[in-house]
Amino acid sequence: MSMADKHKKLERNITLLAVCTFIAVAIGGIVQITPLFYLENTIEKVDGMRPYTPLEQAGRDIYVREGCYTCHSQMVRPFRDEVERYGHYSLAAESMYDHPFQWGSKRTGPDLARVGGRYSDEWHVQHLEDPQSVVPESIMPQYGFLAENPLEIGDPAAKLTALRRVGVPYSDEDIGRAMADLMLQADPDVAGDVDDFLARYPKAQVRDFDGDPDRITEMDALVAYLQMLGTLIDVDSAAAQEELAQEKGR
Ligand code: HEC
Repeated sequence: MSMADKHKKLERNITLLAVCTFIAVAIGGIVQITPLFYLENTIEKVDGMRPYTPLEQAGRDIYVREGCYTCHSQMVRPFRDEVERYGHYSLAAESMYDHPFQWGSKRTGPDLARVGGRYSDEWHVQHLEDPQSVVPESIMPQYGFLAENPLEIGDPAAKLTALRRVGVPYSDEDIGRAMADLMLQADPDVAGDVDDFLARYPKAQVRDFDGDPDRITEMDALVAYLQMLGTLIDVDSAAAQEELAQEKGR
């Protein structure tokens, strides 16, 4: 029987075709999936990436609570138009401590993965309170209440502990000092060891973010989070590092 005849038989017998299809797909699946069980981590670590500070983490929770991700993505894709508009494309390591990740699938507004440092704190506060006052054609909703709401600090240590359970490498000291770290980052007048804080959270920005130094508001936390986005790693050297690691893996 020729090859074509054999194939004809296979094509015309639905049960045989289903069984053979299943076997072919199963082999393909095993080849793809099994190696992943033997990898420590599928993401290469890059210099500079660190867990978020308790204040940034609190801001991130507000970002999720308010559904900012329904209009904003946090992933610059490696296409020329995106890179020219937003900056270096996002690296896998940049979202390795995100639980849940904020890549998003909708861009009613611009991508925010590299928005940190692009605007002043005052701009962010003004824009969040009344987006149309800075971008008249904006359809972004107003979030002025964030500046009114005192940040419900709750138990930042518990939050970090929960994140550590899912793999974010907070140290015992980070967890023990979570509350102090949060106050310290948002309020420059709080007595505390800034150098120690910065040694544990390099590049963290320490200041009053919402223009109201008397209290810590949800606005402080959200702006601290936005100003950190995309600023932690030196992208060019990190991208080179990542490519090198991939070459080695090949
Ligand atoms: C209904 C959709 C929508 C929602 C929800 C939304 N935004 Fe926006 N956002 C936009 C649009 C549209 C723009 C572009 C116009 C502008 O700057 O206002 C924008 C712009 C921005 C910018 C400026 C980005 C840049 O590169 O210029 C920031 C920062 C931002 N939004 C943050 C947020 C945050 C934080 C939240 C949640 C508290 C949020 N947005 C919720 C639609 C939205």
